[in-house]
Amino acid sequence: MISADGVVSNCRQLITCRGPLPKRGEALQDLGVIEDGWIAWSGGEIVFVGKGEDFRKEVRAVPSATWIDGRDGIALPGLIDCHTHLPFAGNREHEFLLRLKGLTYQQLAAQGMGIQTTVKATRAASKDELIALCKQRLNQMLLTGTTTAEAKSGYGLNLEDEIKQLEALRALKGAHPVDVVPTFMGAHEVPPERKDDKAGYIDLIIDSILPAVKARGLAEFFDIFCEPNIFDLEETKTLAEAARSAGLGVKIHADEWAPIGGAQYAAESGAVSAEHLINITEDGVRKLASSGTAAILLPGVPFFLMLDKKAPARKLIDQGAVVALASDFNPGSSMLSSMLLVLQLGVYTLRMTIEEAINACTGNAAYAIRRDAGIGSLEVGKRMDLLICDVPNYASLIYQLGVNPVRHIIKNGRVVVRAGKIQPL
Ligand code: NIG
Ligand code: FE
Repeated sequence: MISADGVVSNCRQLITCRGPLPKRGEALQDLGVIEDGWIAWSGGEIVFVGKGEDFRKEVRAVPSATWIDGRDGIALPGLIDCHTHLPFAGNREHEFLLRLKGLTYQQLAAQGMGIQTTVKATRAASKDELIALCKQRLNQMLLTGTTTAEAKSGYGLNLEDEIKQLEALRALKGAHPVDVVPTFMGAHEVPPERKDDKAGYIDLIIDSILPAVKARGLAEFFDIFCEPNIFDLEETKTLAEAARSAGLGVKIHADEWAPIGGAQYAAESGAVSAEHLINITEDGVRKLASSGTAAILLPGVPFFLMLDKKAPARKLIDQGAVVALASDFNPGSSMLSSMLLVLQLGVYTLRMTIEEAINACTGNAAYAIRRDAGIGSLEVGKRMDLLICDVPNYASLIYQLGVNPVRHIIKNGRVVVRAGKIQPL
């Protein structure tokens, strides 16, 4: 008999999202649904997934086991937000109001606002203030289904403040139920004091900040904003090579505003992911589709900026790319922390099927942050990260807008949200 210290019984649908990962093309239609499904775990690891009759034959729950009745609801893997700019201070509500009056995101940036506004506020904040802000935001994320979030620095743009952001992320380990996966994004923008010396700033990243991040083990990934007025393709390559030599996985903000070869370079150089892709070219789609680089689409950005143009999700999927969805949570272009809403926007605005969108927020999102061996699907041997939602079937997650159906959340085998309330650590 298999011993279990936790059981969720009788889910109307148990959405396993079972592998193999990553999923491409037709495989994205498969959610591995078990009707009237049961799942059991021990020490945070899934030990059984299946039907009630097999559970009774194969599993014995210890007397102190946690039991959750899944009746009337569905269960699915905890959602994974594989692209956020979590550790920032301040907000950009004032600039949002200017946008509503007709200024564009680019016009604000050209006037010294945009990312630079948040750099000022983040530099002025203490590490403890950043930690407190991150905890509040992670609470919101958790309540709408996120159990793992990637998080980028990139509002410090100097040694001290980039390290401060990454140390704030590190301090969240064990201090919040959501697992945070840190990315160093010193190459998010050129800081104001280096405006006329971009080459000097690139040297600073490569010779000073990156080695410090590496030596302190503060990041797993390195991200670059590859755009004509930020870091061009040659600069992106130089930065990416340095990151690779330091042993960090490379992620690239590519083709958000102008396609300058970022997606192609990501694919050809074996980057972990290319992200945004609103303006990706046919060639970019082809190259990504035939690579192992994940295409992370961020439907919150065109929604929040009210742009008609969106990333070509259908083309990417139909040609075979590994598509994942994420929030891009940040104060300027996507003040959106709910992966439930991202899932819905994937369907409503990118025309993904419901099954594709769910796989893109679970298994493929795990792949996009190299966590697919442990999370992203409900399979024996993986971590027990699971949501129980008050809906009759998974289509209702998309059909019912503006309500939060997330009732209970189990993270790494522990009930962290019960009846919609975060439980004390
Ligand atoms: O992913 N594209 C670059 N960075 C963010 C925006 C950051 C900001 O506006 O503060 C993004 O959209
Ligand atoms: Fe981003």
